[in-house]
Amino acid sequence: MTNVNPPQIIILSLGFIAIFSFHSSLASSTPWVYLSKGSSMSVENYASDVLTSPDKTFTCGFYQVGTNAFSFSIWFTNSADKAVVWMANRDRPVNGRHSRVLLRRDGTLVLTDADGSIVWSTNTTFVGDKAQLLNTGNLVLKDSSGNITWQSFDSPTDTLLPLQPLNKKTRLISSKGNGAYSSGYYNFYFDNDNILKLMYDGPEISSLYWPNPELSIYGNSRTNYNSTRFAVLDEVGKFLGSDTMEFSATDLGSGIKRRLTMDYDGNLRLYSLNESNGSWKISWEAMQQQCNVSRLCGRNGICVYTPMPRCSCPPGYEKTNPNDWSEGCKPKFNQTCHHPEEVKFVELPHTDFYGFDIRTKTEFIPLESCRNLCMQICSCVAFTYRISGEQYCFLKSALYNGYTSPAFPATIYLKLPKNLETSPTSDPSYSVCGSGETEISVGSSGIFHSESKAKWVYLYSFALSIGAIEAFLFASGWCCLFRRDREPTSTEDGYRVMFSQFRRFTYSELKKATKKFREELGRGGSGAVYKGGLEDNRVVAVKKLGDVIQVEEEFRAEVSTFGRINHINLVRMWGFCSERNHRLLVYEYVENGSLDKHLFSNANSNQLLNWKERFGIALGTAKGLAYLHHECLEWVIHCDVKPENILLDSNLVPKIADFGLAKFSPERGRTGPELSRIRGTKGYMAPDWALNLPITAKVDVYSYGVVLLEIVQGIRLSNWVVVDGEEISELTRFLRMVKKKMEDEEEEWIENIVDPRLNGQFNKKQAVVMIKIGISCVEEDRSKRLTMDMVVESLLECADDPEFNTANVP
Ligand SMILES: *[C@@H]1O[C@H](CO)[C@@H](O)[C@H](O)[C@H]1NC(C)=O
Ligand SMILES: *[C@@H]1O[C@H](CO)[C@@H](O)[C@H](O)[C@H]1NC(C)=O
Repeated sequence: MTNVNPPQIIILSLGFIAIFSFHSSLASSTPWVYLSKGSSMSVENYASDVLTSPDKTFTCGFYQVGTNAFSFSIWFTNSADKAVVWMANRDRPVNGRHSRVLLRRDGTLVLTDADGSIVWSTNTTFVGDKAQLLNTGNLVLKDSSGNITWQSFDSPTDTLLPLQPLNKKTRLISSKGNGAYSSGYYNFYFDNDNILKLMYDGPEISSLYWPNPELSIYGNSRTNYNSTRFAVLDEVGKFLGSDTMEFSATDLGSGIKRRLTMDYDGNLRLYSLNESNGSWKISWEAMQQQCNVSRLCGRNGICVYTPMPRCSCPPGYEKTNPNDWSEGCKPKFNQTCHHPEEVKFVELPHTDFYGFDIRTKTEFIPLESCRNLCMQICSCVAFTYRISGEQYCFLKSALYNGYTSPAFPATIYLKLPKNLETSPTSDPSYSVCGSGETEISVGSSGIFHSESKAKWVYLYSFALSIGAIEAFLFASGWCCLFRRDREPTSTEDGYRVMFSQFRRFTYSELKKATKKFREELGRGGSGAVYKGGLEDNRVVAVKKLGDVIQVEEEFRAEVSTFGRINHINLVRMWGFCSERNHRLLVYEYVENGSLDKHLFSNANSNQLLNWKERFGIALGTAKGLAYLHHECLEWVIHCDVKPENILLDSNLVPKIADFGLAKFSPERGRTGPELSRIRGTKGYMAPDWALNLPITAKVDVYSYGVVLLEIVQGIRLSNWVVVDGEEISELTRFLRMVKKKMEDEEEEWIENIVDPRLNGQFNKKQAVVMIKIGISCVEEDRSKRLTMDMVVESLLECADDPEFNTANVP
């Protein structure tokens, strides 16, 4: 029942005109500063009955969500698409007539619909004297002494604002669709194990999809021991969770208005407001590969990069609801149990449906056996067959989370009735799309703005000068996972690469930032690096490239490579400068310098890395390289992996630097730019260079192997020594020695190899794994070398070794 106070009834009974004049006299054209006890805001005056924050950033009032439907909301006042950050009961909009929000005499804030029914209200245990919208975007109730008794920050909808904490009790839930405001199915929350996660929580299934469900907590760089469950985005754009989840906006700095939104497409994105035109720019996102979002294309649907992600139905299936991909695809046949003779299997290469395995077989199972298993089990609707080292056979009971990507090493075989007509699958990724495919437009409506086009044009001209291959790379905002014959058709495809990954600096800006290039941090083949400070207080490293003609290629390689990269183990590039004959690159400043200083110098013993730190550096470096080689940018080879190019931040997290020599792998069918000169550093260079073999990612694996062995031993293996009159590298000497020790089955061989400065304080199991990995990485025959993701996998397997955890955790 409503409890409307007498004065309000009188006002209401005076009719519409009376209400209008009452409010306009009270508020005139200026919005309200606060709502006092007994007063109300009515939906008819939604344009003027609004509360604004003192700095005018936020507005609170009735927000129109349909022709005659409104929700009591808070939104950014000056954003082009009125980004709504909070709603009271978004699943029940109210009528456009006679609905109102009232601060009742009993101190509760109540939203009533046209018929007087209460749609939403604050709890009666938290009563206030007035309602006020703060500069943070927080709507609060304050009691007579000014204490906050209730706040909207405690009940977020899909958006978290800076300084608004996420905790045990709160979660972000996406809206249902683009332009729809009711609750959807994607959640961002703290799970029971204290980890921040993204979950699809739908009517049929729920599934976790971020952080990577295939990795351990440690593998995802999280921790679960802190049960505080508290996370907050600060004012400069840095997010920190109690599970050590951490990220920064690409435009890190104060004075920028931001929001972290659980978007309806299942991606969690941080947006920054451009106040000059009210547009929103993505400055971070959780899922770089949109197709990995759970349930994006519904049951039986497949997500395909073209290169923008699109949904499609597999052969034998059709779209369930022409207007809604989340309902997926339905079979065009009767899903009864078919006799083995009556079924056929249709093959979709590079495609998988994640989860819902009836049975998994790993060993060496031939394709034919896997197929027979599926044929015999009635509930098996398809099977995935994957060859990567071993052969995997997964029998599927349901098809969810489908996606196709050219790099994916698996094939799915769909079980269909023999008599069902299906289109030929010669070009599977596209023929499966059928004609009914529609594009999922990604993110909220704020993404596609003319501003990004302008940026694109600029980039495009930059890319053109580099040549077709890079234009192509730039254009693929989805960083990878697309086919080489798909050139970008829309200018929108290109914008994503850049969000504001980096910006162009003027020479004078950088001169000022570095105080006229005063503090030199180091000097490499291509130029010197200086320390500097930007106006927003960010500390940066500015690399000044030398001879312009010679470095042009390097400069372009580095800018184009870095512009597309964002990984915790790769040094972040903030921008560049290309002015007359000046070429400069601006990087994040990495506090602890390069790995070689920590590993090889005896001077400062308190810089000596302990075992846990060494293992972390080996793993992090491997992850960074695996990212370059496999995860995303398959065609990027670093070409100069060495301790000097591995920087350590304040927490000794390794960050790979110096992409000046990076090369785009020709493996993807297109020939990359020819290498005009040998690159890399003696001692870390794979024999492939000397043998004039085509350069592949395996050259980085070799160099990584040398670094890994150096990390374990603490000495330079790249040096040359004379043994019995023969000049050999330390590495060769080392390999001969280990081989001999292993042959002699020497008991404690590992103890004699690990850096003696550790005084035996190391984890034996991990050391053995690291030595073995190192040795297989430096195989002369490159086909015998591991790949970087195999290295990461092997290291992760022993990362949580209990012996290590108890012995060495401080
Ligand atoms: C747990 O997380 C909270 C919030 O982030 C932090 O203040 C606290 O120091 C953390 N505790 C430990 C033991 O790390
Ligand atoms: C904001 O938009 C204006 C106009 O489109 C543009 O000139 C400016 O560079 C943008 N600012 C940022 C920080 O992106």
